[in-house]
Amino acid sequence: MRLDKFLVECGVGSRSEVKKLISCAEILVDKKICKDNKKNIDEVNTVVEYKETRVIYQEFRYYKLYKLDGYITATEDKKDKTVMELLPEWVNKKDLFPVGRLDKDTEGLLLFTNDGKLAHELTSPKKHVDKIYRVLLKEEIGEEEIKKLEEGVDIGGYITQPAKVEKINSKEILLNIKEGKFHQVKKMLKAVENEVIYLKRETFGKLTLEDMFLGEVREINREDVI
Ligand code: URA
Repeated sequence: MRLDKFLVECGVGSRSEVKKLISCAEILVDKKICKDNKKNIDEVNTVVEYKETRVIYQEFRYYKLYKLDGYITATEDKKDKTVMELLPEWVNKKDLFPVGRLDKDTEGLLLFTNDGKLAHELTSPKKHVDKIYRVLLKEEIGEEEIKKLEEGVDIGGYITQPAKVEKINSKEILLNIKEGKFHQVKKMLKAVENEVIYLKRETFGKLTLEDMFLGEVREINREDVI
């Protein structure tokens, strides 16, 4: 791979930024200054250094975000702010996309990766990945409604798969579902004549929010996900 492409893919900078670094003698290749941006390097074995630190090539990257209200889950949009804007500068955004979808007003756990295969596995209905949502409700919820949510409700021509509900108090539940239909949680609560007034995803597969703060981003490993 060309040296400039390698540096871009490792998140060192944009194409023009890395070209500048190379011409300014800021990049070492196998311990020697390299001013040739077209130099062919082996991504795994060649030792490339910038600011006295080795630049490591990672084909796939994984990050988790504690999403804030007000951002849509998309890589770009003409009207709204997207979740991509919540990723700090140190995140290598090349080919990165959010896995699954949280509504604009939903907070909580969102995974980003450039690993299309893993993203497909996580969102495939066959995989049954658990997602736990904290749901604050407009109306008090009774045992009968909880039973209905657990057994499956009609959300407009589709009967939801069995779910688990933990009642926190009369207007707050934890809802564990394995599917991810459009507006699923809001539609499920509507089906039992209630309304979601706040929604937060707390887990996604093995991932949790742990002690993250709102808006925080952490780099994680593939093994952390499933
Ligand atoms: N279900 C919803 O209704 N909204 C979300 O953002 C996620 C799940």
